[in-house]
Amino acid sequence: MESDTSRNIVVGVAGGIAAYKACHLVRNFTEHGDRVRVVPTSAALNFVGAATFEALSGQPVSTTVFDAVDEVAHVRIGQEADGIVIAPATADLIARIASGRADDLLSATVLVATCPIVVASAMHTEMWLNPATQANVATLRSRGIVVLEPAHGRLTGKDSGAGRLLEPEQIASLSREVFNGSTLPHTWSGKKVLITAGGTQENLDPVRYLGNRSSGQQGFALAEIAAQRGAEVSIIAANTDRLPTPAGAKITSVRSARDMLSAVIEQAPQQDIIIMAAAVADYRPHYEADMKLKKGKDDSALGTLALTENPDILRHVVKMRDQGSLNPEAVIVGFAAETGDEHHSAEELAVAKLARKGCDLLMCNEVGEGKVFGQPLNSGVLLLRGEDPAAPVRRTITQGSKLSVAIQILDAIDGLGHCQN
Ligand code: CTP
Repeated sequence: MESDTSRNIVVGVAGGIAAYKACHLVRNFTEHGDRVRVVPTSAALNFVGAATFEALSGQPVSTTVFDAVDEVAHVRIGQEADGIVIAPATADLIARIASGRADDLLSATVLVATCPIVVASAMHTEMWLNPATQANVATLRSRGIVVLEPAHGRLTGKDSGAGRLLEPEQIASLSREVFNGSTLPHTWSGKKVLITAGGTQENLDPVRYLGNRSSGQQGFALAEIAAQRGAEVSIIAANTDRLPTPAGAKITSVRSARDMLSAVIEQAPQQDIIIMAAAVADYRPHYEADMKLKKGKDDSALGTLALTENPDILRHVVKMRDQGSLNPEAVIVGFAAETGDEHHSAEELAVAKLARKGCDLLMCNEVGEGKVFGQPLNSGVLLLRGEDPAAPVRRTITQGSKLSVAIQILDAIDGLGHCQN
């Protein structure tokens, strides 16, 4: 959940080329109202100068336990921290933390701290996958330190793969969830998760379309949390905002509801969890003009728009499971964007929708002008289908960032029992 409290944040920086991204991370926290103390390793200062970190944080920067000895800095910084995030963390720093070393200011700070700690690593794929690093990462996780899954992509040289540092805004927003109390458990390795996100667009002619206001943020937040739980994540993204790719996620870009249906049909059979967060256009123009429709000339087409109903992708997936073409244990989650009407509340409409769609969980959002679509906060009610589809179990999703809502939804999926590792 987002918090308005400003915190004492320590940003640890190890010696890797991605150290420059730590500057954006520091800026992100200070703009959020936090007090930031940057603690680099001496190797980090080969990449970014102390003056840069001092200017961005407004606090002195030191790498050794022998500076500010009168203030006992090697103990005080860790004691006073409300949260520590290390970005980038190298294989060497992770090894030093795992073995409890305290031979520089950063490792000493980590050893002293009792606050939540987030480690965002950056290294070459071979180093990340090396059993030594993986064992050290497992050690850190077993001690309650959140080690984020790295991004996949271009690395320092010509190579690319797992080990790239996540973008600063991803690290900052995931860290905030951890500082607010989430443990981001790494319990979904081996699980495959498919998420639809964004809003479909249905062409009227080459320049016009029917669409909706969905930005894709909630779908990407779900993907981000599933990826950080260790799952293999695929996103089918319809016209989403420019959002950073969640760690290791595969993205298939689509435009219309029919494109989305084809991608879902292809990818659903391999999945353990399918979350349909996209806002799918219920109708498309009956005719798609090859050339731009003209005022005066094409008035009849523009004045009265003939529409054709789109396929219902969620119902199609439920049917695939009923017919045996999906993993029979697959969990299917739908979203209900409701405004309520003169006779029914948004939630009553969602209860009817859960029964109609046949999915296992339905997240009901109240939408409308300025609510949910494109907004930073979300909330709602999660309905879990029980014996009687007309009387689902109801769980309040408390208001928070889209990551916080994603955490609550994925926790509910865990609560179904058969998704636990
Ligand atoms: N959905 C879908 N295919 C459609 C329409 C919706 O898969 N053609 C999915 C959405 O991704 C979402 C859920 O169904 O998970 C509910 O979407 P919503 O737009 O709220 O419901 P509709 O079925 O379109 O019902 P209505 O618009 O009448 O409320």
